[in-house]
Amino acid sequence: MLPPTNNRVPPNAAVVGLQWGDEGKGKIVDLLTARYDCIVRYNGGANAGHTVQVGTERYALHLIPSGILSKGKINIVGNGVVVDPEKLLDEVDGLRKRGVAVGDNLRISDRAHVVMPYHKEQDAALEELLEQKSGKVGAGQIGTTRRGIGPAYSDKVRRSTALRMGDLLNHSLLLRKLETICGLRMAELEALGANVTPLVPQELADRFAAAGERLRPHITDTVYLLHDELRAGRHVLFEGANACLLDIDHGTFPYVTSSNCSTLGIPAGSGVPGRMIGKVYGIMKAYSTRVGGGPFITELLDPTGDLIRKRGREYGTTTGRPRRCGWLDLVAVKYSVMVCGADAIACTLLDVLSGFDELKICVGYRRADGTITDRFVPDAERMEGFTPIYETLPGWQRELTDCTDRDDLPREAQSYLAFVERFVGIPVELVSVGPERTQTFESTARFASMS
Ligand code: GDP
Ligand code: IMO
Ligand code: MG
Repeated sequence: MLPPTNNRVPPNAAVVGLQWGDEGKGKIVDLLTARYDCIVRYNGGANAGHTVQVGTERYALHLIPSGILSKGKINIVGNGVVVDPEKLLDEVDGLRKRGVAVGDNLRISDRAHVVMPYHKEQDAALEELLEQKSGKVGAGQIGTTRRGIGPAYSDKVRRSTALRMGDLLNHSLLLRKLETICGLRMAELEALGANVTPLVPQELADRFAAAGERLRPHITDTVYLLHDELRAGRHVLFEGANACLLDIDHGTFPYVTSSNCSTLGIPAGSGVPGRMIGKVYGIMKAYSTRVGGGPFITELLDPTGDLIRKRGREYGTTTGRPRRCGWLDLVAVKYSVMVCGADAIACTLLDVLSGFDELKICVGYRRADGTITDRFVPDAERMEGFTPIYETLPGWQRELTDCTDRDDLPREAQSYLAFVERFVGIPVELVSVGPERTQTFESTARFASMS
């Protein structure tokens, strides 16, 4: 376990995924929560699935920050998040049923946009249309989580068809807005070829105003709340959802999500200026995974990939889909470190790599024309035909799940982390060797100096 304070850590920090999601951000946020007062989600929605394991209890959080499992913390769903109110209420009820207190420790921005049922229908209908157009099952789509994320952010940008959490607290306003939205939305759904059940403004207004009433005690202006807390000397931890390579601007477009999930989304998604964040933890799993479509240069479509999936239990927290697995791509990680301004790496799932004779790490790409690059290309079309250039490192056989210190790691595992540090240029400060809170240790010295 981490000691509750560490004098080297600046007051406000961020946790962000350096790959394509599911790096173990929830676990690391839960662990770091001991050092912070407020935990803030600034992007994404219920497309995220953050797992926290405490003893034998496993929690899957989708909209609520991972700090909720620690007592005495304020958990904030910022204005940059898109909130499915009914899903959020299910999450609240599920936590309460398991004895987790959810009251004024949960605050939701009145400016966070609402994910409505028709957004989920639009999401699914567009994916199905893309599949039909491609003429191949499972092809042509982005492979979204179908949680309505893209359509909800589209409405935010379109403005006139958007709903915000604050609107749920005013029934007549909500009804008026839905009267404009519903007719237009049905026409759009029909154009996508969806089987449209009529959208009745009154029914939707009643249903979502009821959800709003239940959420009323939590809904507030979180920008002022955060700044009041900061002025009072409280420390804030930002919890990124999704990951840098899924960022709408900096990820593998168009196979990305619809928000700025790198640290660049923090100021816009929370109202806190970027310069107030003193430390960025980039979370990197020791290999690569991806769910859904899009470029994945180091993907292993072979028994090695299957073994990683089995050992890492690589099935989606949100959709249950098997995750695509492959070797660690340090070109991609180094790019994310650059874009996110990461100061340190938390390397997770290192235990999954036990038992391999050798391990490969991608250090460059060969383009289709044979030329070589060490730069990431955040564009799916332009990555077409890229193949990985690997360094091969010796593996280790011993299970790592009981390691509590860097000196407990086999020499080969230390060398693996030293390689990461040298290539990426920042230290590996946290190492995770199992899903449980206690299966983590902090390394105060660099691994690179040890080999
Ligand atoms: P997130 O979306 O980044 O929070 O990650 P997910 O929760 O979707 O996926 C990470 C999975 O790995 C979860 O099932 C975690 O319980 C698990 N996990 C996290 N860290 C470790 C680790 O160091 N070793 C192992 N074996 N599992 C881990
Ligand atoms: P966490 O926070 C993994 C992926 C989807 C899909 C693409 C777009 O748990 O790491 P969307 O539903 O957002 O429109 O889907 O982005 N995706 C994730 N993959 N982990 C996530 O979140 C993800 N959030 C979105 O699989 O490829
Ligand atoms: Mg996840």
